Amino acid sequence: MVQQMRATMANDWWLRNPARTSSSILAAPPFWCWLLIAVIVNIAGAQEQLLPGTWEVLMNNAGIASMHSAVTRFGTVVLLDRTDIGASQIALPEGRCRIDPAEKALKRDCSAHSVVFDPASNSVRPLMILTDTWCSSAQFLPDGTLLHTGGDFDGYRKIRRFVPCPAEDGADCDWEELSHTQLSAGRWYATNQILPDGRIIIIGGRRQFTTEFYPANPAQSPMDLPFLREVLDEQMDNLYPFVHLLPDGNLFIFANTDAVLYDYMSGKVVRTYPRIDGNPRNYPSGGSSAMLALTAANDYSKAEVLICGGAQFGAFMEEKVDMAGSGSCGRIIATDLEPMWAMEDMPFPRVMGDMVMLPTGDVLIINGAQSGSQGYELASNPCLYPLLYQPDQDAGLRFMTLTPAVTPRMYHSTANLLPDGRVLVAGSNPHYSYNFSGEFPTELKLEAFSPEYLRPELANLRPHLTTTPERIAYGAQFQVSFSVTLPVTGIVEANLASAPFSTHSFSQGQRLLKLAVSAAEPLFSLSFMSSADGALPYTLTATAPPTPLVAPPSFYMLFLVNQGVPSVATWVQLVSS
Ligand SMILES: *[C@@H]1O[C@H](CO)[C@@H](O)[C@H](O)[C@H]1NC(C)=O
Repeated sequence: MVQQMRATMANDWWLRNPARTSSSILAAPPFWCWLLIAVIVNIAGAQEQLLPGTWEVLMNNAGIASMHSAVTRFGTVVLLDRTDIGASQIALPEGRCRIDPAEKALKRDCSAHSVVFDPASNSVRPLMILTDTWCSSAQFLPDGTLLHTGGDFDGYRKIRRFVPCPAEDGADCDWEELSHTQLSAGRWYATNQILPDGRIIIIGGRRQFTTEFYPANPAQSPMDLPFLREVLDEQMDNLYPFVHLLPDGNLFIFANTDAVLYDYMSGKVVRTYPRIDGNPRNYPSGGSSAMLALTAANDYSKAEVLICGGAQFGAFMEEKVDMAGSGSCGRIIATDLEPMWAMEDMPFPRVMGDMVMLPTGDVLIINGAQSGSQGYELASNPCLYPLLYQPDQDAGLRFMTLTPAVTPRMYHSTANLLPDGRVLVAGSNPHYSYNFSGEFPTELKLEAFSPEYLRPELANLRPHLTTTPERIAYGAQFQVSFSVTLPVTGIVEANLASAPFSTHSFSQGQRLLKLAVSAAEPLFSLSFMSSADGALPYTLTATAPPTPLVAPPSFYMLFLVNQGVPSVATWVQLVSS
């Protein structure tokens, strides 16, 4: 028994300190022992270099710590923090200031609490937010406008819009607060999801067991959702519910350890799912969730939901900063008639991980800590290793450990897929205010993680889009032209990725669609090919998703994927006709 415990502890120690070694478990080690350790560390160091993926710093100081982020249809990224914690490190333009006598921290605040980042120039432009966006929620409307709701204090019932613009010199698109309308209830820690009819549903929030729509439907707003109250426990665990729009038009809503299928038209729960094994998964317990790619291969009839990690119950309530997080994942076919959770273990426990659907359909699990829970000063032991989850592999072969980050990204950090296939990682602020001292300082740095598919050695396989439509109608076939250095045979995938709103370890509205495609047809002859030194031109025909249930009307990133290597995406707007 004791031996078993020791083995577990040693194992645990290794897990929690993957990049280090220590002599603390050996009493007075002799010299040869140090030598051995040095050799092992060297080998481990060398192996670490060989893990897939690379990191790069994009900006050392973005001016704000990103708590929320979303990629616009121009490829720029809106980052948001909160307004009530004092000055950020970036000034508002033209000497503008927010003057609010009711504000606690700064009654006259001339700093920005939102910026728009341009990955093409690695620069930010300050934006002006008027009310508090702390723990707010958002979603893009069908026309590409970011519709942003709630927050705390004066922002509790606010609705804001950001109409994005191309990142040009002199671009001045900015936040706008709606004055003619507001939320029917205050929403702090809610989840938003775009619906097939182009409306947005706003679900839950702290002490709100209801849903509502934007634009509001006075007859229906707000609608009770008792499920959100039923799953509440002594430490909440029902905030930022995981919401996935299934291809049958209902919403899969997961909170704490439970899930229901919700018919938002009637406001009724139409189905209850089995309970997931293990710890609570939602805020403040910091698990994450993604819906796996929907695919034309099964007529978009099957939707699988993945939920990973989180904190042990009690870690938040008892402020157990060092309590090991959860390494378990559950996967369920939400569209099955008798669905069951299939459980798997990750190689690391992870609290506050972010899940990013890559263009290939693999899931990147990135950011977070190995111990503690969500909240200020409540986590320790950053989980620096991203993981690749490969859903099409057999159980046991799905996880791949990737090149570790240097920068801890814990509470209040974000991750978003960029159109060039990289993943933007921003934020991390485990403190109430900006605080640059201590073990986990407020992080203003922006970084990108490049998955293995961006390795230069694979450039010969990378498709380059030459002609794509700007708008595609539901069910319509469309041509995509591209070029690639090495000849392709057969299937080059055409996949649509939504632009979700990333906050608190969940990407609201994240969706990946694998379209029906024809085989790629060469646009060159063999004789041309033998003399060509440049890229080879091809075309393929893809079919847009059949209905708005499968893919709500919105702007999507269209990626071609050749042997696992994605193109740079172009934005297409999915429209009714
Ligand atoms: C900043 O963080 C450090 C370490 O967590 C803490 O000791 C200190 O009190 C904080 N400072 C402020 C002003 O909150």
